[in-house]
Amino acid sequence: MEKFVINGGKPLMGEVTISGAKNAAVAILPATILAADKCILENIPAIHDVSVSLEILEALGAQIRTLGKNSYEIDTTHLTSTRVPDDLSRQMRASYYFLGALLGRCGSGQVAMPGGCNLGPRPIDQHLKAFCALNATDSVEYGMIKVQSEDLQGAHIFFDTVSVGATMNAMLSAVLAKGTTQLENVAKEPHIVDLANFLNMMGADVRGAGTDVIKIRGVEKLHGCTYSIIPDQIEAGSFMVAAAATGGNVLIKNVTPKHLEPITAKLELAGATVEEYDDAVRVYRTGDIYPCKIKTMPHPGFPTDMQPLMTVLLSRALGTSIITEGIWENRFRYVDELVRMGANIQVDGQVAVIEGVPELLPAPLRASDLRAGAALVVAALSAKGISEIDEVSHIERGYENLVEKLQGLGADIRRVEKPAAAMAKAL
Ligand code: EPZ
Repeated sequence: MEKFVINGGKPLMGEVTISGAKNAAVAILPATILAADKCILENIPAIHDVSVSLEILEALGAQIRTLGKNSYEIDTTHLTSTRVPDDLSRQMRASYYFLGALLGRCGSGQVAMPGGCNLGPRPIDQHLKAFCALNATDSVEYGMIKVQSEDLQGAHIFFDTVSVGATMNAMLSAVLAKGTTQLENVAKEPHIVDLANFLNMMGADVRGAGTDVIKIRGVEKLHGCTYSIIPDQIEAGSFMVAAAATGGNVLIKNVTPKHLEPITAKLELAGATVEEYDDAVRVYRTGDIYPCKIKTMPHPGFPTDMQPLMTVLLSRALGTSIITEGIWENRFRYVDELVRMGANIQVDGQVAVIEGVPELLPAPLRASDLRAGAALVVAALSAKGISEIDEVSHIERGYENLVEKLQGLGADIRRVEKPAAAMAKAL
């Protein structure tokens, strides 16, 4: 099984280039189905969730040509199936976007109950509410969700909760529906805007993405286009925290500084300096780490996906920090691993109270999900000595070339596939 072996305690120095956004790519890849034509997608991150999305597209009958490491031509003219294979949909929660795209294009779609990170209950009632409002029906048969409609009609939909997935799925199913759809209480994340831009480039009429209300005027047909995906806000944020936590100095390139503002604000409070350029940020820290309070919220609030990373940074602050998780019920499972590194953190429900300690100690660690895994990498990079992180497949679902990028910043990190005993000898 693969592990990361990290000899920590060295400041990260240098430049790193951020990849395309995972959470945009996993919605835009299914969205190509709506074109029934050829699309060229660029800046697609080379990560496991993208490989699964491409495999699903192929299983549905799409023709895919790899144009480069991060660009693909996807021809969805001739689809042969509207059922996403079980084994593939279970590998990735975002397989639910195929429901919206298949419903929009073919009037029917089927996926297995989605898998992905275990962050507590992850209902999809709001996705189904949107499909049904658009005149579709849903049913669950033997673990598969099926949605179908012979006549998708635009509708006025008010979401009960702000949901990234439900907002995107409603957009996917509404762009080819008859009439006008108005979505209210929607998510405003940068990837919502990216999906809207892609749909519009294919000929859709989507307005208001990035605000609380999205209006969609249904069109008869969409066409292919060439589109480049936005940079990954959370990958950028992860390198920002890694630079601050290790007392390093890193120029993080290919980012949209505006998308990083909620992260930048908290990093500055914690004692880091963030310099903004047109499409880059430089993050460095020379002084102490200061405590702060953070509550995760939908965009433009502080992103939940950055919460585990900030906990790592604040675990060495001069005082007490409080982090409240406002999105997911079960997103502090990684804290036990940090406590084994000497952190002093108490979790009560959705709140973590972090008493800063002078240093973290190396330890054998286990990644429980994608961002928790990234946080453990940062913890190991900031702890002097050798830490090993198990179950890194979680991390590789969402970070392109993490090991190589960190090595480029001077980190002593290796990915090894040996059993622990053999690995200890090799060190
Ligand atoms: C997306 O998940 C991201 N995943 C998550 O990132 C991210 O944590 C989350 O948005 C919040 O920003 C992808 O984009 C693939 P939600 P999603 O629907 O869409 C509740 C990562 O690490 N809810 O916005 O599944 C839900 O329980 C991953 O990259 C309902 O009640 O999240 C949660 O409390 C992890 N009913 C809240 O809304 C629904 O029908 C937000 O969930 C849908 C959601």
